[in-house]
Amino acid sequence: MFNIILFGPPGSGKGTQSDKIVDKYGLVHLATGNLLRQEIADKTPLGLEAKRFMDKGQLVPDEVVIGMIDSCLEKHAYAKGFLFDGFPRTAAQAEALDKLLSLKKTSICKVLALEVSEDELIKRLLKRGETSGRSDDTNEAIIRNRYSVYKKDTEPVANHYKAEDKLVIVKGEGSVDEIFNALSNCIEAEMDAQQVFSAE
Ligand code: AP5
Ligand code: MG
Repeated sequence: MFNIILFGPPGSGKGTQSDKIVDKYGLVHLATGNLLRQEIADKTPLGLEAKRFMDKGQLVPDEVVIGMIDSCLEKHAYAKGFLFDGFPRTAAQAEALDKLLSLKKTSICKVLALEVSEDELIKRLLKRGETSGRSDDTNEAIIRNRYSVYKKDTEPVANHYKAEDKLVIVKGEGSVDEIFNALSNCIEAEMDAQQVFSAE
């Protein structure tokens, strides 16, 4: 299996780039934010619980998102690989993901981290908020809270992967196609490296 994480702050382009990556490389896209928004739209108990946190720009409790990822991995048991978007976001989620993948005799190959300045992130999200209907995009204070939660709880998760030499930083500013080319180059380099390794 070929598993990657697209990492980065709110508004860095994880969703935009994930759509293109899964299209090109045939991976299954697992985006916890999208899964949670679907639960909210379906008015499930999990969705109602999650909404209380998401509306304030806070993280949903670890056990909720880990449980969702667990059942998605089961549902796609024969996938060629997964692209994780917006997960893991805490140290506990990263540890749980390692465990879930090792039960499947697989692991994360690379973590591609999009780097975008705070000003650009706020600008992008406020603009999206004009049309997206996302309750967490309309208010600048909530967007800033999402960013500070990212800095405090999520950014340190990158070190977990840096220590394993899996972290690659990619510039997340520029045109969508330029960024996609940079991400594709990293993915293909890793795919080549794995083939070389398995051929040896
Ligand atoms: P989530 O849905 O994951 O949102 P996020 O991380 O806040 O990030 P976004 O989806 O807003 O941004 P993105 O990086 O995907 O960028 P996008 O491509 O959309 O999470 C939402 C909430 O759910 C969290 O706050 C939390 O409450 C909860 N949650 C989710 N996962 C969780 C977890 N694992 N644990 C706990 N809680 C969890 O782009 C943004 C905008 O910029 C778009 O308008 C786009 O068109 C534009 N754009 C994209 N690329 C470019 C470019 N190159 N130039 C200019 N504009 C661009
Ligand atoms: Mg997203």
